[in-house]
Amino acid sequence: MLGMAEFGSSQHCYVFKYSLEKAREPMEEAIPIVEMRNIKKNFGGVQALQGVDLVLHHNEVLGLVGDNAAGKSTLMKILSGAYIPDEGEIFIEGKKAHIANPWDARRQGIEMVYQDLALADNLDVAANVFMGREAVSAKLGPISIMDEHYMGQETQRLLDRLKIDISSVRLKVESLSGGQRQAVAIARATAFNNKVTIMDEPTAALSVAAIDKVLDLVRELKAQGSSIIIISHRLEDIYKVSDRMMVLRHGRKVCDTPVAGDIDDFRERVVAYIVGARDDFAEGVGK
Ligand SMILES: Nc1ncnc2c1ncn2[C@@H]1O[C@H](COP(=O)(O)OP(=O)(O)OP(=O)(O)O)[C@@H](O)[C@H]1O
Ligand SMILES: [Mg+2]
Repeated sequence: MLGMAEFGSSQHCYVFKYSLEKAREPMEEAIPIVEMRNIKKNFGGVQALQGVDLVLHHNEVLGLVGDNAAGKSTLMKILSGAYIPDEGEIFIEGKKAHIANPWDARRQGIEMVYQDLALADNLDVAANVFMGREAVSAKLGPISIMDEHYMGQETQRLLDRLKIDISSVRLKVESLSGGQRQAVAIARATAFNNKVTIMDEPTAALSVAAIDKVLDLVRELKAQGSSIIIISHRLEDIYKVSDRMMVLRHGRKVCDTPVAGDIDDFRERVVAYIVGARDDFAEGVGK
């Protein structure tokens, strides 16, 4: 359930609060949480995706890699409702999903953290977490009074639960470091009982220490039951947190492999698929 509506004792007091608590139901492990089949997308003459399949299992972290323009962001924007595919189907927990816009995706429990983070710099952390889902404590005619106290408290609980180190939820986002901003964007995406979190380049342009914190946050989310897709050019980063890696090249899936073994051997093998030195992927692997 996304939210909980209550009527207060006063006729004029309408309280609408979103619960940030995770309320997970027992899941059928065998059915993937996400399955994308034969996804195709053209932009004018550019075949960005030429029939891509993707599987994400419950509580799995999937690394999505590939060279520039391989189609990674396009595939994830289709899953998050920002783009509509020309062809193909999406199944969420085994049921065919109709995702025509970001609100459809959100209803299905899919949230994407975009490369630009889409945070409101002049608002504080709590306001950013609740953006678009503000808790209203009272309505006086057309005027809504935001329940700042509730939003602040819930945001603090969320940061604590995810072990995110920000001294106050009242800090404006513009005053935060790059790593903290990334953490706020991820926290916002995961705050409202979502099932799948997509992160597009969450460690790009961060310091080494900040990268480690973002990777810790991914591990924490997985430990708490999340299913995650991470796009990255930094193979080392996602090698550390991913269960499986999928490679796109020129809009095709060219590799789908469990993350295992020595990092140098793994990197060498995956890079061979990224650059096209190898193209011997057999469909069905990694499903
Ligand atoms: N809105 C759009 N309009 C036109 N072409 C687009 C659009 N979005 C993506 N493309 C094209 O689709 C192809 C795949 O782009 P996409 O952004 O998915 O690649 P990517 O794998 O995310 O690359 P990068 O690593 O550089 O972010 C590219 O050729 C890109 O120019
Ligand atoms: Mg991209």
